[in-house]
Amino acid sequence: MSQIDIVIDNMTFTAEKGSLLIDLLIKHDLKVPYFCYHEALGADGNCRMCMVEIEGQKRPQIACDTLIKEEMVVRTKGENIDGVRRDILELELINHPIDCPVCDQAGECKLQDFYMDYGLYESNIKQSDKVHHRKHIDLGSSVILDQERCVLCARCTRFTSDITKTHELGIIGRGDHACVSTMPGKKLDNPYAMNIVDLCPVGALTSKDFRFQQRVWFLTSSPSICHGCAKGCNIFIDHNREKYKDETIYRFRPRENQQVNGFFICDEGRLSYKKLQDNRQLDMILNGKSCEEAEALEAYRNLLEAGSGKIVILADANLYTEELEMIQIYAQKLGATLSSPMVSDLDDAFADEWLKSSQRASNAKAIEKLGIMTDLPDEKIALLINFNHPNTVSIDAERVISFRTNQQKEPADLILPLAVFSESSGTLTNEDGIEQYCPKVITRNDPAPTVIEWMIRCQEEVE
Ligand code: SF4
Ligand code: SF4
Ligand code: FES
Repeated sequence: MSQIDIVIDNMTFTAEKGSLLIDLLIKHDLKVPYFCYHEALGADGNCRMCMVEIEGQKRPQIACDTLIKEEMVVRTKGENIDGVRRDILELELINHPIDCPVCDQAGECKLQDFYMDYGLYESNIKQSDKVHHRKHIDLGSSVILDQERCVLCARCTRFTSDITKTHELGIIGRGDHACVSTMPGKKLDNPYAMNIVDLCPVGALTSKDFRFQQRVWFLTSSPSICHGCAKGCNIFIDHNREKYKDETIYRFRPRENQQVNGFFICDEGRLSYKKLQDNRQLDMILNGKSCEEAEALEAYRNLLEAGSGKIVILADANLYTEELEMIQIYAQKLGATLSSPMVSDLDDAFADEWLKSSQRASNAKAIEKLGIMTDLPDEKIALLINFNHPNTVSIDAERVISFRTNQQKEPADLILPLAVFSESSGTLTNEDGIEQYCPKVITRNDPAPTVIEWMIRCQEEVE
């Protein structure tokens, strides 16, 4: 397709001939309201909100179904087009409940935004005349539907028909009785179902897990990478520190990266934020009892020096590359064998043809690149130093030092708490060899040290 120049709001833009006008408007941040269009789902043309004026056309046209042509002159603003949008919005809102104060979408609702931008009219309909639908329907897969908040944009139904091809949702009924529903006797049931909560532009679909946990304007969204498998989907971590409380993660949301995950993530990855907070190892434990850091570091040195014999270091393949490199140098210095057994990381039942990888370790590729062995040591060893690797049960070690992010039942002489990925920063290489940087997002009131911080403290203790 050839590149051509077109004029929008008296400015000239270069675009591909035959491409969608709405994509150009979105790309250049030219404000146009829309409900039903989504870059992943394409045009549906049902909401009529994306109207623009095109010179030579008698009536306003929808930008989501208009192809860019030579000599096109487009207007996205002005009294006329604002009036058209206001009328369409009024139609969308005729039967919408006055729910905003109790709706969990408030703050990230397109209806609210567009009403403030283009609406602001006096309602012509009495509250008692509105058509009501069912509220609080448990669709399955942790998604709650409020039928009367729906603007019938069909993003959710198109997601299940075009993307997951599971076809659980449809729009039933006619006119003002039309509503979204599951097929009779069926539940929403696919491993990517919660993406429809992000797709829904209004408060009709909410996440059972997140709803009413936080008002969204209190949340900070920080970019990160999911550690649920080797795909390395890009996410936002939404977090907040309430007064007198610790910094808390409330949800993961997908972050667009066309090279990795497109617009979506899987539900298991989305809910994996809980592992970063539940059952955390926060205390230093020496021989089953809590201890202070000075005592723990002394015990570390004693365990290192007690007797001779083979030292084995295990490293979790979810650690950042920088952490693995530092552990590798440390292992060489100690004359220890470094390994990252992958047995428990392979999960064929989890994998699919889309995003989910059977390799559950998010940085397995770095283990390969760094040449770290992946065999589980089967001989008797004198000292095992474990950096959060889950595979210790079958290892026969006389003494064990264990760095842990979360509590585990495996015994150890010395247990040291470790920061989870959101409390540290570093690089991950995904299964396709794409390197991605993952910044530190969370700072706890009483932070657990990162691998690198522990390495520095322990080496100072040994030298
Ligand atoms: S439930 Fe949400 S995504 Fe589905 S059709 Fe209604 S408004 Fe659109
Ligand atoms: S596919 Fe893997 S990386 Fe992506 S969200 Fe799911 S668990 Fe996380
Ligand atoms: S976004 Fe164009 S009609 Fe809905």
